[in-house]
Amino acid sequence: MFSLFDLLSQMRDMAWLFIAVVMAVGSVAGVEGRNVRLLEGSMDYTAINCRGHSASITDFGGVGDGKTLNTRAFQEAVNTLSQYGSDGGAQLYVPAGQWLTGSFNLTSHFTLFLHKDATLLASQDINEWPVIDPLPSYGHGRDAAGGRYISLIFGTNLTDVIITGDNGTIDGQGLLWWQKFHGKKLKYTRPYLLEIMYSDTIQISNVTFLNSPSWNVHPVYSSNILLQGITILAPIQSPNTDGINPDSCSNTRIEDTYIVSGDDCVAVKSGWDEYGISYGMPTEHLVIKRLTCISPYSAAIALGSEMSGGIQDVRAEDIVAINTESAVRIKTGVGRGGFVKDIYVKGMTLHTMKWVFWITGNYGSHADTHWDPNAVPVIQNINYRDIVAENVTMAARLEGISGDAFTGICISNATIGMRVKAKKVPWTCSDVEGVTSGVVPKPCDLLPDQGPEKIGMCSFPQEKLDIENVELKKCSYVMT
Ligand SMILES: *[C@@H]1O[C@H](CO)[C@@H](O)[C@H](O)[C@H]1NC(C)=O
Ligand SMILES: *[C@@H]1O[C@H](CO)[C@@H](O)[C@H](O)[C@H]1NC(C)=O
Ligand SMILES: *[C@@H]1O[C@H](CO)[C@@H](O)[C@H](O)[C@H]1NC(C)=O
Ligand SMILES: *[C@@H]1O[C@H](CO)[C@@H](O)[C@H](O)[C@H]1NC(C)=O
Ligand SMILES: *[C@@H]1O[C@H](CO)[C@@H](O)[C@H](O)[C@H]1NC(C)=O
Ligand SMILES: *[C@@H]1O[C@H](CO)[C@@H](O)[C@H](O)[C@H]1NC(C)=O
Repeated sequence: MFSLFDLLSQMRDMAWLFIAVVMAVGSVAGVEGRNVRLLEGSMDYTAINCRGHSASITDFGGVGDGKTLNTRAFQEAVNTLSQYGSDGGAQLYVPAGQWLTGSFNLTSHFTLFLHKDATLLASQDINEWPVIDPLPSYGHGRDAAGGRYISLIFGTNLTDVIITGDNGTIDGQGLLWWQKFHGKKLKYTRPYLLEIMYSDTIQISNVTFLNSPSWNVHPVYSSNILLQGITILAPIQSPNTDGINPDSCSNTRIEDTYIVSGDDCVAVKSGWDEYGISYGMPTEHLVIKRLTCISPYSAAIALGSEMSGGIQDVRAEDIVAINTESAVRIKTGVGRGGFVKDIYVKGMTLHTMKWVFWITGNYGSHADTHWDPNAVPVIQNINYRDIVAENVTMAARLEGISGDAFTGICISNATIGMRVKAKKVPWTCSDVEGVTSGVVPKPCDLLPDQGPEKIGMCSFPQEKLDIENVELKKCSYVMT
């Protein structure tokens, strides 16, 4: 069948040929500048996969005036382009403009590309947000027991999905939701900006997320995820605006990310109490590199508090946190079960912080009353090294669980500059076991100093994860 869409793609191909010819002529004639102007018609980007077919949201009746609702245009675009899944996939271009939209779903072998001056503006009409079931590993919504509003951009059971651009914006306009949350007026759990479930091979790169109603980027039950060059901004007082939440995911790479938010910049999770324990899907093989975080009331990286499916093999490197409550924090408690083990942190530059090291074994916040009092978490092999901090109130607050000590804590080469009005006792430790070397100020007795020659002792894996070896291709989108 010969559709309008095919015709459009053919016209686009012809236009590209025309541009190529004009460009060739232009450069033969030595007309500088013309090349540049003509090249404005194409967008180059790097991605795990390029696409064989292209369309613009305007081909589906989209209007970027900030007023017209584009939910249907986006959903029609995705549905139409999904037919190319087995034929090279498709990319959907969003030009400069303000694109008001409700929630829409993604498809496989698909790229959403945002122009640098394109903003997806989340609709303020609650009817634009269908309600879906709670996550099986949580049993309940986080804000209210029943269902949850679907995220602005949602994908499930997909493979090969890319959201990228030249730093275009996805704006959740979250104020309305924060007010509902504070006013206890929510019937269901607030939506996220992006959620991808049960999926494989995902790239989110070079986009900005603004003012999410709640969490920003939530990959869950998924694998092989590349998150690169993401900016996430929300007011530092906004409720639960976590930056990136890898949740029961494996092989995830987060790098070159800048986050200012009202909750943890990266929150690593794997399900809640008895629901997470029975779902039993850990987050593992996660690498976080070159994260810059500002979050005065939360952590740069949190492990938990929902960690009942387990968290293991997390590698964090080159972390900068400014005016952030703590650096890499473990949050857990009785009833959670699960584990947090094989955590490696290397290279942190920290400025203005309440606690550099914070481990909490008495985090409450249960899914319901059916949690198992015998389900205690296993916390072991936690390594921190090469840390410089300034203006710190307390070096560490490490609290394990009585009868369930947190073991194998290693801290080496950490210089913590205390603020003028610092607490008198810089370390408090209970129910933890481990070692230190080259740490200033002097650690607590539960973490005995092994002597200065052991300053490089805390381990960090040498071999790379598979997701770190992924090579990106050069792709382009040609405008007509
Ligand atoms: C993101 O943008 C930077 C700078 O423009 C570029 O070097 C990088 O390749 C891009 N990455 C991806 C995955 O799009
Ligand atoms: C999007 O996916 C959700 C969950 O699978 C589903 O409930 C909803 O109907 C889908 N929306 C559309 C427009 O297909
Ligand atoms: C998606 O995948 C999950 C887990 O494999 C499965 O339970 C569910 O039925 C699938 N959903 C759809 C809509 O295919
Ligand atoms: C992307 O946009 C955000 C928000 O406008 C800005 O803060 C950030 O510096 C931009 N990043 C890049 C790489 O241009
Ligand atoms: C200690 O950490 C600093 C960075 O904070 C690093 O430059 C230095 O090489 C480390 N020293 C050792 C012995 O690893
Ligand atoms: C040090 O930290 C305190 C809060 O703990 C803050 O008020 C003060 O501005 C910080 N000083 C500097 C020099 O950043």
